[in-house]
Amino acid sequence: MQIEKKLLPYAEFATKLQHENKPSTLSQVLLLVMLLLLVVNAHAQTVQVLHWWTSASEEKAVAVLSGRLAQDNITWKNAVIPSGSGIGAGIVLKSRMLAGDAPEVAQLNGVMIAEWAQLGLLQEMDSDAVAGRWEKLLQPTVWRLIQTSGHPVAVPLGIHRINTLFIHRKLFAKYDLTPPTTWEEFEIVAKKLQQAGITPLAQSSEPWQLATLFETLVLSESDSNLYRDAFVYKKPQAFNDPRFGRALSRLRHLKQYMPSPLKENTWVATTKLLADGEAGMLVMGDWAKAELNALGLVTDVGFSCSVVPHTSNYHLYDVDTLVMIKKGNAARIAQDKIAQAALQPAVQAEYNQLKGSIPVLRAPDLSKMDSCAQASWKSFSRGAASQVPSFSHRMATDEISKEAIIAEVIRFFSDDRISVSETQKRLAAISHTLPK
Ligand code: BGC
Repeated sequence: MQIEKKLLPYAEFATKLQHENKPSTLSQVLLLVMLLLLVVNAHAQTVQVLHWWTSASEEKAVAVLSGRLAQDNITWKNAVIPSGSGIGAGIVLKSRMLAGDAPEVAQLNGVMIAEWAQLGLLQEMDSDAVAGRWEKLLQPTVWRLIQTSGHPVAVPLGIHRINTLFIHRKLFAKYDLTPPTTWEEFEIVAKKLQQAGITPLAQSSEPWQLATLFETLVLSESDSNLYRDAFVYKKPQAFNDPRFGRALSRLRHLKQYMPSPLKENTWVATTKLLADGEAGMLVMGDWAKAELNALGLVTDVGFSCSVVPHTSNYHLYDVDTLVMIKKGNAARIAQDKIAQAALQPAVQAEYNQLKGSIPVLRAPDLSKMDSCAQASWKSFSRGAASQVPSFSHRMATDEISKEAIIAEVIRFFSDDRISVSETQKRLAAISHTLPK
């Protein structure tokens, strides 16, 4: 009886339609709805994006992109390779390509972009670049970075600064310390922290994290010319230079200020050492800033960003980019939409705020930036003279050279019996054989 009562209004409605002699109204409405669904579905598309962003802050930044794309009816499907700095992601991409199972989009940074583009595997984004006036829109260095043989082949997302020295504010206040700008000052701060039972420098023994620290030391002990001669041009004499030797000695010297025993922690765990006040300082790309924020530490309250001693004139940069894999016309429509959405000023502002990087645009909204981002922006905007490409984050050289150099540096770091000059000689010898 109850059911009958509930159904009554609908039955009455149908009968009314019939009595009004309009049997087609209902079917017309249904037809319209079906047509609408068809149109919507024709444009709805799922896009797989291969990347290595797995931390809390990285996930938040990705959600900005996927949320924006949902408005265009594109479902962003994560194909995540959990590996800090993308170790492993390139290998997975390669094997998926060979198996004929490539994702539509992949995070591919720096020198790797050209390597893949030269194989003819990446979509050329010329029409997007012309329509969006990328040449005028983007930072010149970024515009150059995403082109291969005169064609834009990647979509830039943000610029990270590697030579960032993070300071734990409360510890610094408690022990009356000031952020060090020279190595002498660093020494004083480190000793005081150590005396208070606090690890001065958060660090992991993971090779890419040690390499990230080491490249800042090379820049600190020399200048952008020597840095480039070593890491970009791989000139043997650069590795034999006394200043390169000093960077190696500095790396070994800093060991005493790192956690002991030194564990092969993820970068998130390394960052947590600072967040939890177990360590007073951290040298890391500013994705760590985003993670500190995600862990509840407010910029300039819980921590602040300083610069690795003697590198304040430089912005050691790492640009995150997405490439579009050639997969036919259907994928192309979604890939174009991703390219357009990623460069919208509002998306750039929100994404980079959560990622810790700065927008790739020439004129971003500075009001949305915290002090770390503003300092990074100011430094990067000074242009080519201050911009230095990160070696360990693929901005300077090919993967084989990078791995070969890092392996030698790690060998030196792990075994105190190996001398500085021995390592320099080995690196110089290896550099002869590396691709130029
Ligand atoms: C990437 C960043 C990432 C970091 C940690 C860097 O190489 O450019 O986007 O957050 O590695 O995985």
